[in-house]
Amino acid sequence: MPNKKQHNKSQWESTAWEGRFTEAADPDAAVFTTSFTFDRELFPYDIQGSIAHTQGLARAELLTASEEKTIIAGLKEIEEEMHKESLSDIASQSTLDEDIHMHIERRLVEKVGEVGGKLHTGRSRNDQVALDLRLYLRAETAKAIDLISALQSSLVTRAEAEITTFLPGYTHLQQAQPVSLAHHLLAYFEMLERDKGRFSDSLKRLDQLPLGAGALAGNSFGLDRKANAKALGFSGVTANSLDTVCDRDAVIEFLSAASMLMMHLSRWSEDWILWASTEFSYISLPDSLSTGSSMMPQKKNPDLLELIRGKTGRVYGSLMTLLTVMKGLPLSYNRDLQEDKEPLFDTMHTIRGALRIMKRLTDEVIFQKYRMMTAANDGLLLATDLADYLVTKGLPFRQAHKVVGKIVYRAIEEKSPFETWPLKTFQTFCPLFKTDLFERLSLQGAIDKKSGIGGTSTKSIRAEIRKIKKRLKP
Ligand code: ARG
Repeated sequence: MPNKKQHNKSQWESTAWEGRFTEAADPDAAVFTTSFTFDRELFPYDIQGSIAHTQGLARAELLTASEEKTIIAGLKEIEEEMHKESLSDIASQSTLDEDIHMHIERRLVEKVGEVGGKLHTGRSRNDQVALDLRLYLRAETAKAIDLISALQSSLVTRAEAEITTFLPGYTHLQQAQPVSLAHHLLAYFEMLERDKGRFSDSLKRLDQLPLGAGALAGNSFGLDRKANAKALGFSGVTANSLDTVCDRDAVIEFLSAASMLMMHLSRWSEDWILWASTEFSYISLPDSLSTGSSMMPQKKNPDLLELIRGKTGRVYGSLMTLLTVMKGLPLSYNRDLQEDKEPLFDTMHTIRGALRIMKRLTDEVIFQKYRMMTAANDGLLLATDLADYLVTKGLPFRQAHKVVGKIVYRAIEEKSPFETWPLKTFQTFCPLFKTDLFERLSLQGAIDKKSGIGGTSTKSIRAEIRKIKKRLKP
């Protein structure tokens, strides 16, 4: 290469585009542009896509059968090697290549010789990376969905054993009405069910093959995209090459579903952090899933739950990152798009970790039933039931609310729980009170009344669990 300025410490001794260039890459530029430090995670999918592409090239008679065999064998060997590489192997390679795609291609040529250079026929890294992302999302999201199902199963198991454990339900974090602990646990089940729906739904839209879109305009080799789609398990092909090479909707949908999932796990964490406090003492966490203080010997802290709550911010950040990266991009591919990888991978790792930890906590948390039941036994939680009782005796609810408001006021003022009052005292507030009042003024009675679908009665929850178990069956 005459007249080429060589940098002593050039990262890329040769590049795919060296024909056009008179200077080797500046080392700073090389370090700044490489994504190999993080997109290595795509390697199994890059190889899967490249094998399908090789077969497509052979079908189009752009490769002989023996060339096809050689390339595929080389790719499979590289995949095996990469699975075995240690962290130090990876670190030593990290600045050699611009990205995972160039890395694999370089190794292929080193392994199989010149014929490896035919792999990139009719393909650009732009449609290649779009394919890798879809393959990654399809497989890795399915694993995340399985983790959600596993967490849901744990919730159902714990709920089933706690149908008749009652605790105060809260609104505004003020004690409101008694509820079953199972009901509280199954509320998280429902949130997770919607999360699963969002993840599965996003997979429907990514079910189109991007390969064949080329750099931006399509490919000139008449590659059979439908056959490639079939080989890779996609039910169709993308319709517009310009859109295809710069579409990251699937990643954004994933990040958005992940944000909602984390929001749910974070709310749940917040509940349990409160419950683990001395003031509530509704739960104890196992020592193995808690942390201590380096200074205060008495402390046992719910750090795992706090980290789930904290990592929620990080996942929202990833969603904002990619939405912001995308908002100013003209058609079609722009290098900005490389910034999609870290938020995606980081989020995938974060939700998996959070789901696994939440499952462990759900399996092993100790419910302090006595504390819950004691708190639930406060008559003030039955004030609404008292008003409902008067309604059954014919009083309009607004008036009943007022009557019971006065009863509650007196009970609090005189520090005299109304559930201990004789009937006479109630009758001074309203003559409609009769002896059957005391049946209503019980915790079990109040719970049992909420017997519609979605209510907290023992009957409703049993029915709900039956339905859920059917749904959870694979
Ligand atoms: N590493 C790049 C990415 O992740 C691959 C595509 C590179 N394409 C290009 N035209 N420079 O987006």
